[in-house]
Amino acid sequence: MKPLRIAVLGAGLVGRKHIKTILSLPQVAQLAAVADPVADPSTLDLGGADWFADAQAMLDRIRPEAVIIATPNALHAGHGALCCARNIHFLVEKPVTATLDEAADLVRSVQASGVKTLVGHHRRYLPVVQRARQLIAQGALGDLVGASVVWATRKPDDYFNVQWRTEAGGGPLLINAIHEIDLLRHLCGEVRAVSGIKSSARRALAVEDTAAALFEFEGGALGTLMCSDAGFSPWTIEQGSGENPMFAYTGQSAWRLVGTKGSLELPVLRLWSAPGEIGWDRPIAGRDIAVPYQDPFQAQLAHFQRLIRQDEPAMVSVADGARTLAATLAVAAAGDQGKRCPPRAF
Ligand SMILES: NC(=O)c1ccc[n+]([C@@H]2O[C@H](COP(=O)([O-])OP(=O)(O)OC[C@H]3O[C@@H](n4cnc5c(N)ncnc54)[C@H](O)[C@@H]3O)[C@@H](O)[C@H]2O)c1
Repeated sequence: MKPLRIAVLGAGLVGRKHIKTILSLPQVAQLAAVADPVADPSTLDLGGADWFADAQAMLDRIRPEAVIIATPNALHAGHGALCCARNIHFLVEKPVTATLDEAADLVRSVQASGVKTLVGHHRRYLPVVQRARQLIAQGALGDLVGASVVWATRKPDDYFNVQWRTEAGGGPLLINAIHEIDLLRHLCGEVRAVSGIKSSARRALAVEDTAAALFEFEGGALGTLMCSDAGFSPWTIEQGSGENPMFAYTGQSAWRLVGTKGSLELPVLRLWSAPGEIGWDRPIAGRDIAVPYQDPFQAQLAHFQRLIRQDEPAMVSVADGARTLAATLAVAAAGDQGKRCPPRAF
């Protein structure tokens, strides 16, 4: 399969991760160019790719066949529109856009242009997540009853020296829990409604440091999520799986999925079940299911190539990313308004 001729917009924290991933998979993609008005290209290995300060000038000069958009959230909608107007396929980092109106416009532009799109919810490519989805579909848990999820780690105090991280949208809900909410949709089904509470009691900033949410899924299951960037705990998928070297590895599960016949822990893939009859007086045993690790960013890029070259269905299309954003913003709205909120439909 021919490698993708790809460009990256934004060479910050996650843009650099994408650049490294592209350079590590030459049979999947070749880095044609990078555009960033601020970053210093001398601090980066670009593998010989061209460097531009202006995204639009780069797209017009280089005409890449695909782009990875790794710019700040507020620029995703505009950068996605630039790609649609030029018939360039794109992978946009999460959240798909900063607002739901922008997401609706982008979904329309993508449909009108016919470009292929992917949203960077990379956790869906973790082998433990893919195996969990299979186990649920095969009925290993029976009917899904609910999910209990924790994402809690203490971010360093100087993380909040950057102004936008102290304001609405810069808290753990939109930065971190959006990944958990995307996985909840992936594993438990569409969200019918959410309730939520937010607190800024521990950091005393304008943005939440902790949030708790209740989810009602269309299939009848319920879910809870507690997320915090002020609490020190071993329970995040990053710590439990080792997927992100910035997080110290703990090997602990942060997720519990409960069904009528059994239960599952993640990211330690531990299936709890009984060989015969089930009931509260019956022994229940946990069995760890081994799956070989693969880097989710590499798996995501390989999928992006197959999506474009072989028409593989998108793991997370722009419309799907919009549904995750809608569910996440519904938690924030429920917290602000003190009432149960259905997410906006996409
Ligand atoms: N998938 C993940 O796990 C993950 C992790 C971190 C961040 N993200 C997402 O990735 C995006 C970037 O986050 P980050 O942490 O890398 O931010 P960052 O601030 O480190 O990097 C953003 C970069 O974009 C550049 N930029 C700004 N305006 C630009 C423009 N007009 N054209 C091109 N480049 C421009 C900035 O100079 C900066 O270098 C955000 O949407 C964030 O939510 C995703």
